[in-house]
Amino acid sequence: MEMGKVVTIDGPAASGKTSVSRELAKRLGWSWVSTGAFYRGLAFAALETQANLEDENALAALANQREVWAVKMDDEQTSVHFKGRNVTDLIFREDVGSVASKISHFPKVRSALLGAQRACSETTEGLVAEGRDCGTVVFPTAEAKIYLTASQENRAERRAREQGANAEEIIGAQKQRDEQDSTRKAAPMKVPEQALVLDSTDLGFEDVVGEVEKFVRSKLSV
Ligand code: DC
Repeated sequence: MEMGKVVTIDGPAASGKTSVSRELAKRLGWSWVSTGAFYRGLAFAALETQANLEDENALAALANQREVWAVKMDDEQTSVHFKGRNVTDLIFREDVGSVASKISHFPKVRSALLGAQRACSETTEGLVAEGRDCGTVVFPTAEAKIYLTASQENRAERRAREQGANAEEIIGAQKQRDEQDSTRKAAPMKVPEQALVLDSTDLGFEDVVGEVEKFVRSKLSV
C-alpha cells in the first residue's frame, strides 16, 4: 500500500496538539488524525460493553471488533462510532480519558490498534498525526516530528475551559494521566529524536501554529 508523507505531533494531555495539528493539516492541505481517538474509542467501547479493564486479551480482542466500534478521519474531527452511533462527543470526558490512559499500557492493546493508525497514512498525499507515540512508534520515519508541551497549570486551564469545569478538579486527574503515559513500559510518551520541542505556555495559538508550520515547511521544502 502506498504511504503518504507524515508529520507527527506528540505531547502530554491538553498541550494543544489537537488544535495545532488540525490547523497545520489544513494549511498543508493534508489529512489529519488524532490517535488518542483510538484509545478513547476503545475505552468507551470497553466501558459500554462492561469489559474487564484488567483483561489485556479481552481488550485486545475488542480493539479489533470493527463492527462494534470504529474510528473515522475527517478534516474537523477524528470521530468514534459505537454500534453505528457517533459517540465522539462522549469520548472526551476525563473518565474516558483516564480509562484510555490505563488500557494504553497493555502491549497487546497497543499493537492491536497500531495497524489501523498506520493505515491512516495510506492513500493520502500527506498526514498530520498527533498523540503520544506517533513520532517514536507509529510513524518512526515521519518527515518532521514535533513535541508540544505546556505547563501543568496551563494545560489544566485549557481542558477546564473546553469542558466547562474547574481547573483544580482537572489538575489531579491530568497529573495522574501524564504520569501513567510517561512511565508505562510499552511505548512511553517521550520526545522523539530530532523533534522540534515547543513549550506553548506563553505563546498564543497563532504563534504556535506559525512556529510549527515554519519548521515543517523547512523540513519538507514545501
Ligand atoms: O491525546 P488524548 O488525551 O486524546 O489520549 C488519551 C489517552 O490515550 C492518553 O492518555 C494515552 C493514550 N494514547 C496513547 O497511549 N498513545 C497515543 N498515540 C495517543 C493516546
